[in-house]
Amino acid sequence: MAKNSLRNWQGVAAVIGVDWGDSGKGRIIDDLAQSAQIVARYNGGSNTGHTIENHFGKFALHIMPSGIFNPQSTCLIGRGVVCDLESLIDDEFIQLKKAGVSWKNLVIDEEASLTMPWHKQKDGLRENFRQSKIGTTARGVGPTYADRIERVGFRVADLYKKDFKKLLKDEIGFQNKHFNLKLSYGKILSQFQKYAKIIKPFIGQTVPLFQQSIKRGGNVLFEGAQGWLLDIDAGTYPYVTSSNTGVIGIWRSFDLHPQKINHVIGITKAYTTRVGAGPMPTKIIGSLRQLIIEKGHEIGTTSGRTRDPGWLDLVLLKAAVEVNGVNQLAFTKLDIFSTFKKIKICVGYKVGDKKVDYLSGNADFLSRCKPVFMELDGWEEDISKIRKFTLLPKAAQNYIKTIEKITNVPINFIGVGPRREEVIYV
Ligand code: GDP
Ligand code: IMO
Ligand code: MG
Repeated sequence: MAKNSLRNWQGVAAVIGVDWGDSGKGRIIDDLAQSAQIVARYNGGSNTGHTIENHFGKFALHIMPSGIFNPQSTCLIGRGVVCDLESLIDDEFIQLKKAGVSWKNLVIDEEASLTMPWHKQKDGLRENFRQSKIGTTARGVGPTYADRIERVGFRVADLYKKDFKKLLKDEIGFQNKHFNLKLSYGKILSQFQKYAKIIKPFIGQTVPLFQQSIKRGGNVLFEGAQGWLLDIDAGTYPYVTSSNTGVIGIWRSFDLHPQKINHVIGITKAYTTRVGAGPMPTKIIGSLRQLIIEKGHEIGTTSGRTRDPGWLDLVLLKAAVEVNGVNQLAFTKLDIFSTFKKIKICVGYKVGDKKVDYLSGNADFLSRCKPVFMELDGWEEDISKIRKFTLLPKAAQNYIKTIEKITNVPINFIGVGPRREEVIYV
């Protein structure tokens, strides 16, 4: 299998989840950003929770790009991100400030939509009303995107318009009257006037910035949020998020054709997890479920909910690889498998006796699919100190090679611990 080391990557790279999210995107972006002039978020909002552990400490980022720890990287929040200023300013800036990390290289696109207090309230109200819950993070992401599509939402630049006060008052009046909310205009005005002042130096146009960087030969890294299986169009609707999580999201946010991305890096854990509702054919139950949750600390970064673990699902992974043109894979949490006697991977589905060869985003259909497993040997040794592929136990090497063979995509990054340096570059 052709290996193309990621450690010295150049050009345009994108990291996208080929799963239901929480695969370790934050930690790989933090690492790869050391070679990036630009690190850009293109989708999602504060529903994202990207964990980073490096020499500055441990962080949970929601809106801020995970490249912020690298002083040479300009970090862009693209127009396709829904911008939650409360999360950015009252949580993330504080985390970074405490650790002495500067965000002077941050640029927020003036056309990005703003998540406002009513979006968060409506996310929760709608979820409570649903017969069948999605398990939304209640961060207001869906309602913010809905307003953008309806062309009624506030965008970052609106904060600086002469008539902002009037626009805000009218909108709050509308929300209170038609949605029976009890929003306080005075409170929201002073909150957003404060935010507007704080972020003013960081507002700009992100598309020309990234285009200029490419012209100068700079390396550009796109940071996906969530994962392909939660994509609004391709995922199991309605158990999805509200944005395009794959390469098409980059196009929508930065006008960049997917063909121009040199490294499309699909990331997943060595097993898989899902948080919130929706079908998951390879879900693990019983004592092994508990073991993985405890060993892997499978608790959501944003919502604090327990994630459901499952065996790696190569049917879904291969679909994500195919549609997004993934040409390299990154695997995290291989260390969690140490001491497992047997490891399963799902290599096909059956519905009744019939083999399934077409998958759509139909949640009901996916919930009827039964996995066909291949079983591989596990290993006993702790692998967290290993930094070279050939030093891994033979069974661990075999696990990686088997997946490469089935997917026909090289695995170039293997996480063996949560910290930046706990990785094997292959
Ligand atoms: P993201 O949303 O894709 O950035 O992932 P999250 O941060 O939500 O969840 C990934 C979790 O796994 C975090 O707690 C990380 O610190 C942790 N993690 C990432 N890579 C590894 C790894 O290789 N080994 C272990 N043990 N933990 C990891
Ligand atoms: P990162 O970037 C895992 C899930 C929620 C819910 C569904 C809809 O950290 O990988 P939403 O708040 O978008 O309306 O929720 O999507 N979800 C995530 N699951 N990781 C995420 O982000 C997620 N963002 C949303 O749990 O099932
Ligand atoms: Mg996460």
